[in-house]
This record gives sequence, structure tokens and C-alpha cells, in this order.
Amino acid sequence: MYKSIINKQGIISVIGLGYVGLPIALEFAKHVKVIGFDIKQDRIDMMRRNIDPSSELEPKDFEGADIFFTADPEDLKRATFHIIAVPTPIDEHNLPDLSPILKASETVGKILKKGDYVVYESTVYPGCTEEDCVPVLEKMSGLKYIDDFKVGFSPERINPGDKQHSLVNIIKVTSGCDPESAENIAKVYELIIKAGVHRASSLKVAEAAKIIENTQRDVNIALMNELSVIFDTMGINTFEVLEAAGTKWNFLRFIPGLVGGHCIGVDPYYLLHKAKQLGYHARMINSGRAINDGMGAYVAEKTVKLIISKEKEITTSRVLVMGMTFKEDVTDIRNSRVIDILDELSKYNVKYNVIDPFADHHEVKNEYNVDMVDAPSGKYDAIIVAVNHKPYTELDETYFSDLLNNNGILIDIKGIYRNKMKNITYWSL
Ligand SMILES: NC(=O)c1ccc[n+]([C@@H]2O[C@H](COP(=O)([O-])OP(=O)(O)OC[C@H]3O[C@@H](n4cnc5c(N)ncnc54)[C@H](O)[C@@H]3O)[C@@H](O)[C@H]2O)c1
Repeated sequence: MYKSIINKQGIISVIGLGYVGLPIALEFAKHVKVIGFDIKQDRIDMMRRNIDPSSELEPKDFEGADIFFTADPEDLKRATFHIIAVPTPIDEHNLPDLSPILKASETVGKILKKGDYVVYESTVYPGCTEEDCVPVLEKMSGLKYIDDFKVGFSPERINPGDKQHSLVNIIKVTSGCDPESAENIAKVYELIIKAGVHRASSLKVAEAAKIIENTQRDVNIALMNELSVIFDTMGINTFEVLEAAGTKWNFLRFIPGLVGGHCIGVDPYYLLHKAKQLGYHARMINSGRAINDGMGAYVAEKTVKLIISKEKEITTSRVLVMGMTFKEDVTDIRNSRVIDILDELSKYNVKYNVIDPFADHHEVKNEYNVDMVDAPSGKYDAIIVAVNHKPYTELDETYFSDLLNNNGILIDIKGIYRNKMKNITYWSL
């Protein structure tokens, strides 16, 4: 397998060309032959014009790549090493929604040949690849797992918006269904990963490693959020406490905030689901999720209380919310927890305007039914800086005081203006 790929006789296919799939496909295409497949024809059309629909890569990243973009599953027949990088979201009950990964498995299963490899990159709970996906591959192909085709799991660790930790600079965990396939899969990834490859002992270990990386972050941020709620009742600023505690060599540097996006706020639910299926009710992970999911409402309620404390009528007050994306300096609005702030403000009948230099207004309307504005207008009773986009970090007190009316309040979720506001009422997590 490995030899045929480096000789360009074997072809790698990447199924699902989003934040994860496209960078992998293009990186492999610098070395070997690649077919990039996605179900969305409009995205394929953009990629054929060297445009990344996820806005992470530049046109120059497509240059010189030996890649064929297609939305026709028949084209996948020519490939022998298939990488699946489709979304693994949760449904409205926070349960894993495996439909995209099972659909992608059907697509690959239909064209699977003896000797082919299938490597999953989508984040799943331990056991999902072999228990849920492999049966689909077997059913659609009529082939037998391990005897006729091999399967691996290699989780992705990229961090959107982070130019330092790029695909090739992060150690990649790989695994295979038997020693031979584990070695071949590791060698294929070693073609592109400069930082090297960690060979996990099984698919389940590799699946579990990925899910706990994000679960660990989620639980730690939840602890910071809980501390922030406690410290608020004590009248002390959490960021000041963290600055002081952070002078100890082994204090872990996490900060409070909204936890959104399609990884940290989602992956723990996959682990919770599997643990529950196996009869264990995970308490700590569940508590972390509950705390983090409640932070948007907490910030909104705090805003309302502060406005009322200034003897203002809440239903006629106006709030400016700055930032709509799920994190700083990205365009991605999916699973942004800013919507929880807006929903809670609406319950109090508070009028708000939302601005964001990166979020697409149409996408926000489609996803959340929120009408964004291009720029602030008039005066506000409170401003909530929800996302610490780079352009926001450069703003000063005059910017905010010009937008606030008498006794206006600045709510700075991430504490980016701490110690910089002298004359306006300031609050942060
Ligand atoms: N985005 C990240 O930072 C990140 C980091 C690490 C891991 N992950 C994981 O990687 C996986 C992919 O995430 P993403 O952010 O790239 O998703 P994404 O939404 O950006 O992209 C997914 C792509 O898959 C396509 N697709 C959906 N169903 C398909 C199917 N059946 N066949 C072919 N294509 C299909 C979509 O059209 C889209 O282009 C998820 O499991 C996610 O949890 C994401």
C-alpha cells in the first residue's frame, strides 16, 4: 500500500473537505496523487478555483497540488487509501449525530475494493469506528474487515485560526486494525507530518486520546467558569486571581469564557454518551458541560442586573454585543455560544445590536435568525465584548465611552480591557 502510494500508482482520497479534510488533502497532494471528494458541489466548484470555502487557506496553498476535486462518488473508485473527515455533530438533545459519518461510510463502502484502506479522522467516541462504521463498510462492499480491507483511525488536532500549530507541525496519532496496517498508515502520514507520528496501540486508544484532549480542556475551563461565578459573589476579579496563582510553576493556565465551536463543546458529549451506554454516568464531565453551557445565560443575567442597578428600565435599554463567531479571529459561527447571551437578553425584552468583523451576516441569519448590523448606532446601556477578536483588543476607553450613555456598562467576557477602563463601569468573568 505505502509503496504504491509513493510511486503514485495508488491514490489517496479524502472524503469531506472542510476545516480538517481540505488541508490534509492539499498537504498529501504536494507528495502523492489525491482525489478530494465532498457532497457539496458548490464547495467543489470553489476549490477548483483555488478557494477554500472555510476561509482558512490561501489560493497559494492549492498551487502545485496533484489533486482532483469531485462531487461524484464514482471517482473514488480509483483511490485505494480513503481518509474520512466529515462532521460529527450532536443533535438537539446533545446526543451524537452519526449520520454524516455513516453516510460517508456508505459512499466509501460502495466503491471499496480488496486491499483498500479506510482511515477515519472525524472525532468519535472510543469504539465508534469498529462498532458503527466498519459494519457499514462491510455491508455496502460485501468484503470482510481485516481480511479484505483495513481500517485505521487518526484524529485531527488542528486549531482553526492558529497559524503556529498547523497540520504538519503537530504530532499525529495514528492507528490500524492490525500491526501491518498500523505501520502502513503511520508511514503514509509520515509523508506529510514533519512533527512525527505517534503509533497508538489500537483504534480505540486513538479515538479515546482525541476525545480526552478536548474533554480535559472543557472540564478545566468549566472549573475556571465556576470559580469566576464564586469570585464574582466575593467581589474579586478572576483574571487577577489567575494572574497571581499563575506565578506558581505547576498552576494550569486556563481562563473562563464561553465554550463553543464544534470540538470542545461537542466532543465530551460523545464520551458521555458512550459511558452512559456502558452503564457509567460520568459526573465530572457532565458537570463541566452543564457549567460551560450555562455561561451565556449567566453573562446576560449579569448584564441585566447591572443595568437595573443603574436605575434603568430594562425593557427600553439597548445592548451592543461585539462578536458572534465561536472564537476569536475566525469566520466560523457554528455552535457559537454568543447565541445563549442573545436568547437570554431577549427573555428580558432587552433590545440588542450584534456586530462582528468576521461573521457573515447571511450565515448568522440562517443559523440563528439574528439580524446583525454593520456598525453600532446610537447609544447603548451596556456593551458586551463576547469574542476577543484582534481588532477588538486594540480598542480603548474612548471607543466605549462614546458608544455608552450615562452610567453605561462594559461587559468584557475575556477580561481583555482589565485595568484599562478608568471611568466606565466595568465587569468581566
Ligand atoms: N474544525 C476543527 O478544528 C477540527 C479539529 C479537530 C477535529 N475535528 C473533527 O474533524 C471532523 C470534520 O470537522 P470539520 O470541522 O472539518 O467539518 P466541516 O463542517 O468544516 O467540513 C465537513 C465537510 O464534509 C462534507 N460532508 C458532510 N457529509 C459528507 C459526506 N457524507 N460525504 C462527503 N462529504 C461530506 C461537508 O460538505 C463539508 O465540506 C469532525 O469530526 C470534527 O469534530 C475538527
